Amino acid sequence: MRNRHLLIGNWKMNLGPSQAAAFALKLREGLPKTARTDVWVAPPTVSLAPVCAELAGTSIVVGAQNVHWAASGAFTGETSPVFLADLGIAFSLVGHSERRTLFGESSQQVAQRTQGALAAGLTAVVCIGETEGERSAGRTETVLEEQLSPVLESVSRDAAGRVVLAYEPVWAIGTGKVAALEEIRQAHRCIESLWARKQFTSSPVILYGGSVNPGNFAEILALPEVDGALVGGASIKVDQWLSLIAIAEESPVARG
Ligand code: 13P
Repeated sequence: MRNRHLLIGNWKMNLGPSQAAAFALKLREGLPKTARTDVWVAPPTVSLAPVCAELAGTSIVVGAQNVHWAASGAFTGETSPVFLADLGIAFSLVGHSERRTLFGESSQQVAQRTQGALAAGLTAVVCIGETEGERSAGRTETVLEEQLSPVLESVSRDAAGRVVLAYEPVWAIGTGKVAALEEIRQAHRCIESLWARKQFTSSPVILYGGSVNPGNFAEILALPEVDGALVGGASIKVDQWLSLIAIAEESPVARG
């Protein structure tokens, strides 16, 4: 639980360096001073440097979409967490369902990536979620446990405060099919109980992701189990993204 909302935009493989810089400029110009919302964005790797430059001096935090576990070495095509930290990057997404399903990342690898990110001083935004088939087979909570357990095993008490969890049901990503409020509550409660087993001193921070837009965000954020959102499509449309920030600003931070 946080005492501020957290809104993260995952730009996925959209907005190359020049487009991303132009988009970041629009964000900088349009961003209100936020009293209760932290705004983070995750551009593609090649766009990180121009976005950091454009957003320097603003409150927007810039992160990566994936990260390797090693500091350096023979890992063609991967990105070192140490290099990201060197660039001034604050966080990385880890284990996004597109990484798991399209690129075969296992939960064990996701745990390793999380560990690498944390060791380099980054915050790790760990994504988990079930497919439609897993949900209809009644396996949602089992899948959440299978995905999260290796990650939580690898997180030390000291680093737990730099872990953010994102519940993203795969069937809700990019489909316009948002999870029902009760489904979100149940999944978040399941994640909370998995976290509680570890007896970390910090409480879990849990975002919802999957077809979040200005029309459905207020009721999702009003759920006491939800700390914020991880947003894809609506995060690369300036008007929608600024609307989401405005909605978060209007929403009380209810903790309990
Ligand atoms: P959409 O918001 O486009 O459904 O994407 C969600 C997502 O995958 C964020 O990581």
